[in-house]
Amino acid sequence: AKYTWVEKDTCIACGACGATAPDIFDYDDEGLAEVIYEGDNNRGIMAIDEDLYDDMQDACDGCPTDSIKISDEPFNKN
Ligand code: F3S
Repeated sequence: AKYTWVEKDTCIACGACGATAPDIFDYDDEGLAEVIYEGDNNRGIMAIDEDLYDDMQDACDGCPTDSIKISDEPFNKN
């Protein structure tokens, strides 16, 4: 399984990830990205559906500040 979360401390609210993978990423009131998938609430604990792996990886590769973290293990952040 794969898990993802956004390091908000380095996110610059560029807006790319939500456009690339809208089922996984959305933005908070400040425009900073966060994982909204299945109520994850940016904790990085919800296993992402395999159908979304390509979108998730594209978003990660496209983030200008490398703020999107992906792992085979749950993060349990926030
Ligand atoms: Fe932030 Fe990177 Fe998304 S800068 S808005 S996490 S593409």
